[in-house]
Amino acid sequence: MASYHFLLFALVGAIALSEADAEKKLSPDFYSSSCPKLLPVVKQGVIKGIKDETRIGASLLRLHFHDCFVNGCDASILLDDTSNFIGEKTAAPNNNSATGFNVIDDIKAEVEKACPGVVSCADILALAARDSVVYLGGPSWKVDLGRRDSITASRADANNSIPAPFLNLTALKTNFANQGLSVKDLVVLSGGHTIGLARCLTFRAHIYNDSDIDASFSKSLHSKCPISGNDDSLAPLDLQSPTHFDNLYFKNLLAKKGLLHSDQELVNGGSTNKLVKKYATNTAAFFKAFAKGMVKLSNIKPLTGNEGQIRINCRKVN
Ligand code: HEM
Ligand SMILES: *[C@@H]1O[C@H](CO)[C@@H](O)[C@H](O)[C@H]1NC(C)=O
Ligand SMILES: *[C@@H]1O[C@H](CO)[C@@H](O)[C@H](O)[C@H]1NC(C)=O
Ligand SMILES: *[C@@H]1O[C@H](CO)[C@@H](O)[C@H](O)[C@H]1NC(C)=O
Ligand SMILES: *[C@@H]1O[C@H](CO)[C@@H](O)[C@H](O)[C@H]1NC(C)=O
Repeated sequence: MASYHFLLFALVGAIALSEADAEKKLSPDFYSSSCPKLLPVVKQGVIKGIKDETRIGASLLRLHFHDCFVNGCDASILLDDTSNFIGEKTAAPNNNSATGFNVIDDIKAEVEKACPGVVSCADILALAARDSVVYLGGPSWKVDLGRRDSITASRADANNSIPAPFLNLTALKTNFANQGLSVKDLVVLSGGHTIGLARCLTFRAHIYNDSDIDASFSKSLHSKCPISGNDDSLAPLDLQSPTHFDNLYFKNLLAKKGLLHSDQELVNGGSTNKLVKKYATNTAAFFKAFAKGMVKLSNIKPLTGNEGQIRINCRKVN
């Protein structure tokens, strides 16, 4: 009994310590003296990017997600392929799909002017995701800062770690659990699909083969996305308002109008139904949980201290 208690103490102590450690490493005011203009510079760059092309807000949010799910939020997704380096941009989930890299380049150039060599690309991506959501009408959250940039990338890990749209609910839960994210995080962060577009290739099987889809909704997509061809033609993930961050995504799911198979899986009768209903009827609850989920997503396995580097050009290792 005594040794059992000792073990419990040791365990609780170790957990408390490692949590304190993680908090010490990243903090919202990491750059407050080294780069006081960082937040307004990133925000202005995001707003300019979205004004030039409305979709960019969605693209930046997705870039951050695809960065964090592949060995942590370390800007690995931003590294270009070269003749002797294979990065993540051509991995299956990103090739012909991930965009927004030029906007990150523009923002990084402005940040370098204000404070050369100080701010990581990984932190810029985390801030740009938040600023995009806010500008499109969604919730805000404090972004912890102090991440450093990787000197490597992994196309294989990008293929394997980023969830595919044909996954079922069980596989989606496992995929998020592998990143330390809960079932609630899975449901609420899927709400990121309240903005942005998807290619025919990613929803074809859902509109032709699945039964959990509204018949008139699937039919309305047939001309845009025929049984073969037009792989790259785009449809909104939230059919009513793909440029506005709201809770219509969840309302669509209840009406069997989710665009991706993986979206509609969230209401297949399991425990996630309740959460979808809650977010469909309560925008405040969705926004609060989304902000909380984003902080968890943004804090996946950062490089800190002397790990990695501060890239000067986000596309290549210094
Ligand atoms: C739950 C598992 C998820 C799956 C299976 C998934 C899958 C997809 C797919 C297939 C697309 C369209 C890609 C294409 O056309 O090539 C997409 C787009 C998008 N995803 Fe997800 N996603 C998931 C979770 C998330 C999360 C957690 C976020 C952010 C919080 C997110 C944000 C986005 C955004 C904003 C877009 C639109 C991007 C644009 O228009 O450029 N997704 N997702
Ligand atoms: C990426 O897409 C391009 C254009 O469709 C294609 O030529 C290339 O083979 C793809 N890369 C990979 C690794 O699949
Ligand atoms: C990853 O996916 C691409 C297709 O985009 C494929 O060409 C490649 O062989 C896959 N695996 C690895 C390890 O890169
Ligand atoms: C979900 O998908 C996995 C992998 O494809 C499969 O093994 C499993 O049987 C599926 N689960 C359900 C409940 O359909
Ligand atoms: C629909 O399912 C059938 C049988 O599994 C398969 O052969 C076909 O390729 C699927 N169609 C689409 C568009 O995914």
